[in-house]
Amino acid sequence: MARNKISIIGAGNVGATVANKVMEMEVGDVVMVDIIDGLPQGKGLDMLESAPIEGFNSNIVGTTGYEEMRNSDVVVITSGVPRKPGMSREDLLETNKKIIESVVDQVVTSSPNAILIMVANPLDTMTYLALKRSGFSKKRVVGMAGILDTARFKTFIAMELNISIEDIQTIILGGHGDQMVPLPRYTTVSGIPLLQLLPEETVDRLVERTRKGGGEIVSLLKTGSAFYAPGAAAAQMVEAIIKDKKRILPCCVYLEGEYGLSDICFGVPIKLGANGVEEVIEVELNEVERESVSTSADAVMKGIDALKL
Ligand code: NAI
Ligand code: 2OP
Repeated sequence: MARNKISIIGAGNVGATVANKVMEMEVGDVVMVDIIDGLPQGKGLDMLESAPIEGFNSNIVGTTGYEEMRNSDVVVITSGVPRKPGMSREDLLETNKKIIESVVDQVVTSSPNAILIMVANPLDTMTYLALKRSGFSKKRVVGMAGILDTARFKTFIAMELNISIEDIQTIILGGHGDQMVPLPRYTTVSGIPLLQLLPEETVDRLVERTRKGGGEIVSLLKTGSAFYAPGAAAAQMVEAIIKDKKRILPCCVYLEGEYGLSDICFGVPIKLGANGVEEVIEVELNEVERESVSTSADAVMKGIDALKL
């Protein structure tokens, strides 16, 4: 039986981390593409040489061309420049727009039936761009951000309560920006509402740290942005699709009326399986939450308008 083919565009920090994770998960063989000759080949060979130690049987091909990735099942697009200190994700738009347009054109030609997972920033805008440029159905273009953002919120909650991350459930809605909408009302620790375990001021502090979580890493690294948690998040999405897990995960998808929003790519809970985005799940919001969603949507729409498609 032929193995699944997962292609990763961009062999930088995030791309290489996704590739490594996906190989270790044994969900398929990997093709890693970059424009820098030697980078995808070198990192790919290095990963392959970790297989005898880690004990996985997946293969990887590193390349600067698109021939090897022909007929991929899933394509993860990480190509694009990351932020430096002082930059917002929106500052990346002009540069990454050009990269994403050329990459998506190649991907559509070589893998017309693939499901696209977008990673490059500004995430919601680049997901919208990839959807429109590819002509793929909205089920087959999905952006990674909510899994990362909820992971950060869960990490901060676990640190504050000195408990395991395994018992925390939460939802974050909205764009992958500082206006994202963590929902403490939908956050529980083994079923216990978070707001019964922590005072509101503490929860507000953790929400604020989550919103600025990407920037916190950028200011520490100084030369780029986060990649371990983002890589793990994208790999989890690949696994959900390849194994048809039908997981309920927060992802960036195209909305047509859900949450009162249309013609926008935005973070919401979805069912993710072999068909890609199988369902968008709407949760009830109170007035304050609805206002926050609207503020976040306005910020995303600015980016989408700036694409001038
Ligand atoms: P990086 O600079 O380490 O890697 C980017 C790679 O893309 C480089 O190796 C570069 O050569 C390659 N590349 C550029 N143009 C290309 C093209 N036309 N075709 C193929 N490869 C090309 O950056 P990093 O840290 O991997 O981040 C990548 C992107 O992901 C950035 O835009 C970053 O902001 C974004 N990101 C998004 C996250 C999210 O939550 N959605 C989380 C982390 C990063
Ligand atoms: C992050 O949140 C860079 O968007 C990326 O870390």
